[in-house]
Amino acid sequence: MSTPLRRVMVSRSAIQHNVERLRELAPAKDTMVVVKANGYGHGAELSARAALAGGATWIGVADIDEAMELRGKGITAPLLAWLHAADEDFNEAIGRDITLGISTVAQLQAVAEVGGGTVHLKIDTGLGRNGAGRENLAEFLDTAAALHTSGKLVVDGLMSHVSGTSREADLAQAEVFCRTRDLLASRGVTPTHLHIAASAAAIDHPSLRFTMVRFGIAAYGLEPTRAHRDLGLMPAMRFESSIVNVKRISAGDGVSYNFLWTAPKETTIALVSVGYADGVPRAATGNALVEIAGVRYPVVGRIAMDQIVVDVGDAEINTGDPVGIWGDPANGTPSVSDWADWTDTISYDIVTGIGNRVTRIDIP
Ligand SMILES: Cc1ncc(COP(=O)(O)O)c(C=O)c1O
Repeated sequence: MSTPLRRVMVSRSAIQHNVERLRELAPAKDTMVVVKANGYGHGAELSARAALAGGATWIGVADIDEAMELRGKGITAPLLAWLHAADEDFNEAIGRDITLGISTVAQLQAVAEVGGGTVHLKIDTGLGRNGAGRENLAEFLDTAAALHTSGKLVVDGLMSHVSGTSREADLAQAEVFCRTRDLLASRGVTPTHLHIAASAAAIDHPSLRFTMVRFGIAAYGLEPTRAHRDLGLMPAMRFESSIVNVKRISAGDGVSYNFLWTAPKETTIALVSVGYADGVPRAATGNALVEIAGVRYPVVGRIAMDQIVVDVGDAEINTGDPVGIWGDPANGTPSVSDWADWTDTISYDIVTGIGNRVTRIDIP
């Protein structure tokens, strides 16, 4: 069988190690690992299993379909899903013991109608996105408390999400969170789980860990921001392709669409079978580097749908040689953060952009 043209290798042991490390760095009673968007491109089931092996006690996803898929694959750990359609039917999710992050009175009522559901109340403490907002907080808490007290649902958690704008802004959100917890307690409800911090806040602010921290990006070994280097995490993903053609070209020869690059002198170029349809950002044209045998070389000319061209100078290279697109910089491969810098985005955006035709290879 031939080698897949493009492949993503994901290391289970790296994710397990990262979760173990994060539990030391940011300990809390419970640790959630977030595997939404196919485990940030790493594979949801693999990521969930590796996270649980590393000591995670909860798995988080955005929506119920993602949670149902994990249940279907035999993940029995506590699962939380927090983003729902306007007319969401909670029946199946409750039947599969999926905990629901709930942001509106209408959702509370829909869960209560089914009966037997467990919810974490999601509060907008200042991020300005999902979660019950200030203007209807009293009604939201009143409704939740009444439904909890009458046994129509169980309020088992209170959650929010911070903006990461600054330490002051995050701590201000935590204050709103604590006040909301007290308002809920004054209505007779004291949830077991209190959580507000994702990777960055959990690492940076011990006071934001409450009873549970929610790690997404850091569990995959990627830094939440450039300020979070040297945490002892291991990138779990290596994105790789291969050289499929090699040519010697002359000074002045143009390469790829619109001749954005012409060879300044005689050189060797390598054609690599991966492109923007696979998740190599087209916007990195002119900035990107890739790794061949531990050495970084520039990607030259326009990044195309299926192909990139690499200028290797006078290096000895051959068709079939592997090409590291991103992975562990300790091996010379550009990091996901490098690609994020080259395209003015964040690492999350890079790893979740892997295309459908990329072959996934799980490695221990
Ligand atoms: C509610 C919630 N919690 C946790 C996370 C994980 O965030 P991070 O990947 O920054 O750790 C996310 C991701 O955006 C989220 O939406």
